[in-house]
Amino acid sequence: MMNEFETKKEMCEIGRRVYNRGMVAANDGNFSVKLNDREFLCTPTGVSKGFMTPEYICKIDADGKVLQANKGFRPSSEIKMHMRVYRERPDVRAVVHAHPLYATSFAIAGIPLTQPIMPEAIITLGCVPIAEYGTPSTDEIPDAVSKYLQYYDAVLLENHGALAYSDSLLSAYHKMESVEFYARLLYQSKMLGGPKELSKDQVKVLYDLRSQFGMTGKHPAEICANNRDGKANCHGCGKNANSNETTDTDLIAMITKKVLEQLK
Ligand code: 13P
Repeated sequence: MMNEFETKKEMCEIGRRVYNRGMVAANDGNFSVKLNDREFLCTPTGVSKGFMTPEYICKIDADGKVLQANKGFRPSSEIKMHMRVYRERPDVRAVVHAHPLYATSFAIAGIPLTQPIMPEAIITLGCVPIAEYGTPSTDEIPDAVSKYLQYYDAVLLENHGALAYSDSLLSAYHKMESVEFYARLLYQSKMLGGPKELSKDQVKVLYDLRSQFGMTGKHPAEICANNRDGKANCHGCGKNANSNETTDTDLIAMITKKVLEQLK
């Protein structure tokens, strides 16, 4: 296991990758890592995440209060969003927020990533819904994201960007890369006359493969009502999750949330 200093160095490395790949502009984006139930590391607010050194990284508690920060550095303005993910997803050890060009374009156009076009995206992400718009730094974004946390490991943030989380920082970053690649493929194939979607049967085979691989995290395949009823997975959970109707999946998420609250 990495020690705290090594984790800070890894956060700087991920910052460089996110910046150099154009997944953020200027000082945008933020990441955090859970050290244990009481201590978290996060990027500071208002600096370019592409040029950080370990002294930039802040340490906070589970309420986002500063435990340690060097002079001139304060925790990310989006820390409430990160802490909500940790609170509602005990399996998560790292959160990455960025504004990748194509994924953010879909988030601005109001189009969730739900078309089954590529095996890797189907296995890794399933579909990627859009959490309703909220003002950055307020509770509005955590509240909007909360609805999706039990089903997905990545969400688009309406008119804003994307959020990915996983059991390690590298894995959360990779999910962000996968979201952007999926969005880019979808955009480019739409430009070429529209993607040829995989069939429901082909999607089912890929979802079965995901289970066989024993992949960690949450995935719409595991909560799809169609799948539970023995039918082909709809690969449209992102659309359903965006509707106002209360579905089975909403109920499952509500119950999971209540149980977690009781366990606190
Ligand atoms: P911070 O620099 O405060 O983390 O904010 C960057 C950002 O992208 C807000 O959405």
